[in-house]
Amino acid sequence: MKGIILAGGTGSRMYPLTKVTNKHLLPVYDKPMIYYPLQTLIDAGIDEILIVSGRGHAGHFLELLGSGSEWGVSFTYEIQDEAGGIAQALGLAEGFADEENVAVILGDNIFQDRISGDVSGFSGGAKVFLKGVPDAHRFGVAELEGARVVCIEEKPEEPRSNLAVTGLYMYGSDVFDVIRTLEPSGRGELEITDVNNYYIEEGRMGYKVLDGYWSDAGTFESLLRAGVMVQRYRERKYES
Ligand code: DAU
Repeated sequence: MKGIILAGGTGSRMYPLTKVTNKHLLPVYDKPMIYYPLQTLIDAGIDEILIVSGRGHAGHFLELLGSGSEWGVSFTYEIQDEAGGIAQALGLAEGFADEENVAVILGDNIFQDRISGDVSGFSGGAKVFLKGVPDAHRFGVAELEGARVVCIEEKPEEPRSNLAVTGLYMYGSDVFDVIRTLEPSGRGELEITDVNNYYIEEGRMGYKVLDGYWSDAGTFESLLRAGVMVQRYRERKYES
């Protein structure tokens, strides 16, 4: 399986922190934000990783991460010219994926769980990773019926569950055909939630509820929370 980190977008919610640098290069406790999703992919045994970034500060990603040799993996870079949505950014990875399955992670998502079993066990279709949260209206929200996801709603005013769809997804190589069929949403973006609902309708969507901590880090509040979460986890690990 190949890995893709989506680190495009404008970072406008984080202004002025993002005036002279990119959101994904901001610190989360003691590391640049993008190190965390990278580590999640690398710990899962993925050794070919594409980093999709916006045009602004793209050279800084190269300077920070280089070829991947320091990490024992190989990095490829792609530019998303305009913030046309998560699914649009993923569409740029078609050549890189080269017909293989892909694990896709958002550059502002911080996970504690390890996903190596999910990577080795994935056999096509799609899989999402869910987490119970108190503020589900900020996210894609999954509705479950029995052991199935029956619908995902993007940022619903009245969420039908507390299960946020985290920014980690697995897809078979047909995901690029699905993206080609999408129309921009009300906010003018190609939505990853539309991709996921396609697989749900096809009956080819799996899911897992995460055990460990998870946070996005794309707002001032969640950036702070993610840093504190990482620090607390480190302290606990150090004490035990
Ligand atoms: O954090 C999980 C949530 O991420 C999901 O629950 C939502 O379903 C999903 O739509 C997304 O919601 P956000 O509104 O928080 O996404 P945001 O626009 O903040 O983008 C998150 C990351 O995706 C960002 O750090 C980089 C990448 N991205 C985003 C856009 C809009 C791109 O690479 N290109 C883009 O054009």
